[in-house]
Amino acid sequence: MTIPGVPTLPAQPRPGISTDPDWFRTAVFYEALLRSFADSNADGVGDFRGLASRLDYLAWLGVDAIWIPPFYPSPMRDGGYDISDYTGVDPRYGTMEDFRTLVEQAHERGIRIVIDLVLNHTSDAHPWFQASRRDPDGPYGDFYVWADDDAGYADARIIFVDTERSNWSYDEVRGQYYWHRFFSHQPDLNYDNPAVVAAVHEVVRFWARTGVDGFRLDAIPYLVEREGTNCENLPGTHRLVADLRAMLDREFPGTITIAEANQMPEEVVAYFGTDSAPECTMCFHFPVMPRIFAALREGSATAIRTVLEATPPLPAHGQWGTFLRNHDELTLEMVSDSERAQMYHWYAPVDRMRANVGIRRRLAPLLGDSRAELELAHVLLLSLPGSPCLYYGDEIGMGENIWLPDRDAVRTPMQWDHSANMGFSACTDPAALTLPLIADPDYAPRCVADALADPGSLLHFLRRVLRVRREHPVLGRGTFTPRETSDAAILAHTRMQAPAGQEPGQTLLCLANLAPAARDVVVELPDLAGCDTRIVLDATGQAPSPIDARGRLATRLPARGYRWLAIIPAGEENQ
Ligand code: NOJ
Repeated sequence: MTIPGVPTLPAQPRPGISTDPDWFRTAVFYEALLRSFADSNADGVGDFRGLASRLDYLAWLGVDAIWIPPFYPSPMRDGGYDISDYTGVDPRYGTMEDFRTLVEQAHERGIRIVIDLVLNHTSDAHPWFQASRRDPDGPYGDFYVWADDDAGYADARIIFVDTERSNWSYDEVRGQYYWHRFFSHQPDLNYDNPAVVAAVHEVVRFWARTGVDGFRLDAIPYLVEREGTNCENLPGTHRLVADLRAMLDREFPGTITIAEANQMPEEVVAYFGTDSAPECTMCFHFPVMPRIFAALREGSATAIRTVLEATPPLPAHGQWGTFLRNHDELTLEMVSDSERAQMYHWYAPVDRMRANVGIRRRLAPLLGDSRAELELAHVLLLSLPGSPCLYYGDEIGMGENIWLPDRDAVRTPMQWDHSANMGFSACTDPAALTLPLIADPDYAPRCVADALADPGSLLHFLRRVLRVRREHPVLGRGTFTPRETSDAAILAHTRMQAPAGQEPGQTLLCLANLAPAARDVVVELPDLAGCDTRIVLDATGQAPSPIDARGRLATRLPARGYRWLAIIPAGEENQ
């Protein structure tokens, strides 16, 4: 069917990338905030051509897929998550042709493109909303959730607690209230209206035809509202996600969907659907993220172990997406009140560092710019189950600016080199820059050029670990088994080839010392008794440790130290 205002583009082939339908399982994702990444035309705003000009850097780093947050026309009152035209590109970022060229050039380098789909809501500037408020009986009259009063769905929480007091706002034009889970300028679409479902499917088809490899499904738990519920994760929402997936599988097979469902593990797992009714290909693992940070301060692996043990198994088609930071606040919605208070105490001692229910800070300053902690956090990220997603700039330890409003604190221009505006833009008017550059003298001079020139930099470290990860697909595809240790500070787990067995012989033992002091540890590996080990990644400088006849491996890990050891089955040669 054709929806008015949704144009059709011819399908685009994907020349340079593999046809492996499971590519996402071993992929490393990188979130590139378009407007802050690289500006090609000196207007102060990052754009498609700018990002395209940096693809070689991302390929060098070892990135397999880029996630680009919304680039559609938008009043930009929520970083572009307030869309006013689903099938256009904001001219500040370039043209549709530029977008298609970016996709092509990424694919030539074997890099996939995942774009953001904000299906829960639009901007109030979207023509659908404008039509809906003016003409309640017209074709868009029922596109949003309207009511005569603001009493409905009273059990739904408010998400943006810093700015919103209610999920309802009054519209003077229509003389009714409209429902919004986020900012009041972001009215929620009404998914009880089949015309809305049809319209968003057309939008998805439109972008799938450009050859993109996947979609991040923004704010997906909130599509459907029902009285007497908290309006999250409702069966109707799951049906919509499954229908979307079925459409993609039918018409654009291989296109992935990634759920942004900031929920507890049991609720998130539901967004994978089942093998017979699949929903998303991947879901971000929101609960594990804050626990990586908590574990570092507690000096104990318990929080990470506990949340992973509480994570239900996934259907075979699914894969977690893991991350340390992204363009939002470090969300603390999925921790208990006391854990949240601790996190604020450790990581947001100043009020300004907080936003909504979370912390609006960058990775390096969060970790006190400690190289040992930055390494350990990344090593954990890359060894836990799931495909990791990096946030632009964190690879060079970029700083934050808590004097900027809201989450802009972590969205400042990428620092490339020491030329004008740190190589982000040749713009001569600093006021025209999308956001000011970081001024903090400890972080302002950091840039990719310096990091590239220094083989000991965090950037080079990360590239090395990404390469190790690529050489060990078991880290993407393998099972995850936590192992007993003599010391709760140590996270020990094995990643093993799945029973179906793609990479014979690959079993990795990953060890991480969360404590700020060296620890001697014994790891229990009864099923691997008598096996030898080979070092894959090591911060200890020690020889590999064998596993004794009782299945015990003894080793010493320095403060915040880590080791990845490949298991050599007994009787096989260690080489
Ligand atoms: C989630 C996005 O990540 C966030 O940036 C945005 O503000 C909300 N969705 C609302 O669209």
